[in-house]
Amino acid sequence: MKNIHQVKHPLIEHKLGILRDKETKPFQFRMLIDEISTFLLFEATKDLNLKDKEISTPMAKTTAKELDEKIMICPILRAALGMLESVFKLIPNASIGFLGFQRDEKTFKAQFYFQKLPKDAKERLAIIIDPMFATGSTAIEACDFLKEQGIKKIKFISILGTLEGFKNFNRFHSDVDVFIASIDKGLDENAYIIPGLGDAGDRVFNTLE
Ligand code: URA
Repeated sequence: MKNIHQVKHPLIEHKLGILRDKETKPFQFRMLIDEISTFLLFEATKDLNLKDKEISTPMAKTTAKELDEKIMICPILRAALGMLESVFKLIPNASIGFLGFQRDEKTFKAQFYFQKLPKDAKERLAIIIDPMFATGSTAIEACDFLKEQGIKKIKFISILGTLEGFKNFNRFHSDVDVFIASIDKGLDENAYIIPGLGDAGDRVFNTLE
């Protein structure tokens, strides 16, 4: 699957080990999500377009570069809010387009309940963020929705995924590049990633029972 890019780095692997550990406290969990997201974004944005810009340093005139791309970051509520700050910090001129999906606890299918895109969304590169790429259902629905809105370029950043999820996803959206830190063994009977890290939203927001 040419569009699925596993970002391999010793620091990512080290941080994933702490992130997965059930003893890791929410404040540290949030910090690790933040750090890993930065690595993934770095890879995902390697091919952004640049244009020349004439500037003066205190010493001389020179030609510098600036991004020649309008970007919309699309966090999938709610777990992706844990990734948003780091991604927004690196691309401060981006717009944010929120997407809300809720998991149907019987079918495990994603149910769409909210969206708030910028008016000029069509002109932007969409970078969807969601820490867990489990069945691929949410990712498929999110890309369907963005494409229906006329968005031409989409990338997806996620932390843990499964082969099963990517195979499902690629039946519909093999044109979307996905950047992922780990491809885990699979899913349990409740469509949770194994070994995974549990419920990402609950761990970010400290709502575990
Ligand atoms: N969502 C989660 O938060 N965790 C999983 O393992 C799967 C989906």
